[in-house]
Amino acid sequence: MNRYSKIIGTGSYFPSKVLTNKDLEKFVDTSDEWIVTRTGIRERRISEDKTVNEMAYEAAKAAIEDAQIEKEAIDGIIVATCTPDYLIPSVACYLQGKIGVKGPFAFDINAACSGFLYALAVGDSLIKNGLANNILIVGAEKLTSILNWKDRSTCVLLGDGAGAVVLSASEKPGIRSLILHADGEYTSLLECKAGGSAFLANRDNFDIENNLFKMKGNEVFKIAVRAMADVAVKAVEESGLRFDEIDFLIPHQANLRIIDAIAKRLSLDSDKVVVTLDKFGNTSAASIPTALDIARKSGKIKEGSNIVSAAFGGGLTWAAAVFTL
Ligand SMILES: CC(C)(COP(=O)(O)OP(=O)(O)OC[C@H]1O[C@@H](n2cnc3c(N)ncnc32)[C@H](O)[C@@H]1OP(=O)(O)O)[C@@H](O)C(=O)NCCC(=O)NCCS
Repeated sequence: MNRYSKIIGTGSYFPSKVLTNKDLEKFVDTSDEWIVTRTGIRERRISEDKTVNEMAYEAAKAAIEDAQIEKEAIDGIIVATCTPDYLIPSVACYLQGKIGVKGPFAFDINAACSGFLYALAVGDSLIKNGLANNILIVGAEKLTSILNWKDRSTCVLLGDGAGAVVLSASEKPGIRSLILHADGEYTSLLECKAGGSAFLANRDNFDIENNLFKMKGNEVFKIAVRAMADVAVKAVEESGLRFDEIDFLIPHQANLRIIDAIAKRLSLDSDKVVVTLDKFGNTSAASIPTALDIARKSGKIKEGSNIVSAAFGGGLTWAAAVFTL
């Protein structure tokens, strides 16, 4: 009997506070027109009262309920985040405490915007190897906490939120292919040094503004378009499905122009592409699981749909997956 992993429940959480492009115009030298044309983003959410582990909990609770399993059936928790609340303990351990289960393994993964697909790959391997049966996989971020609000090239792009899935052992696929990549030559293209041990340890260096989120957007853009499209194509080729059997693309939500280019490479019409960045901006590791949850709960994506997902982020990292719901 084959042993696969399959997503059996999804959940998401977004803070209620909306920051529109018009709101940004009031304190940054930007315009709604520039942001919409260059990125597709119209508004994003800001968490004023919830930490990352609290947002993760809301999304996880919804995913467990959706999966219709008891919380005691969860034997592992993986949280993908590049904005953990603290260096120690992990968001995953706080989350485990909040869910109220004792014993399941719990740890965080940081692969920036590719984090959710990296976490999915780890979860898939653990399930296939028989080390777990039900793993809670969460992407949760509070990116607005690491933004430099004076830097118009980055502060208009990002938002807060959390998405979660329950990944369970299954006789049917499930996850069909997963490909992960990174290239450390490009570490300087996307950085946030503040909060790490090298920055904190150097207590004389409190140039916080220059060590918040920074990105050479244009250079990242060029690499992202090619790398994401290539890895998505490869994931479909390795999935055992034909290209015309793919029903939906759920891409990382960074830029509509990048998403359109990938959809074109995969010959997918716009109604086959899940886009949420207009409302939520780029939520890094949370963008794919939240988009998946929104598309499922709206009825766009159904049981049996074949999905290709691709992501790209700081590191640089990139990844793709093909799975059947
Ligand atoms: C960030 C991004 C939207 C910028 O778009 P772009 O078309 O590359 O724009 P550029 O950075 O070349 O900037 C073009 C001009 O707009 C200006 N500009 C930048 N941000 C602006 C803003 N918010 N409002 C108005 N003007 C802005 C720049 O200063 C520049 O002006 P100049 O030509 O006078 O120098 C785009 O590069 C991008 O999405 N990059 C990839 C991000 C990504 O995928 N990240 C993945 C990991 S999360």
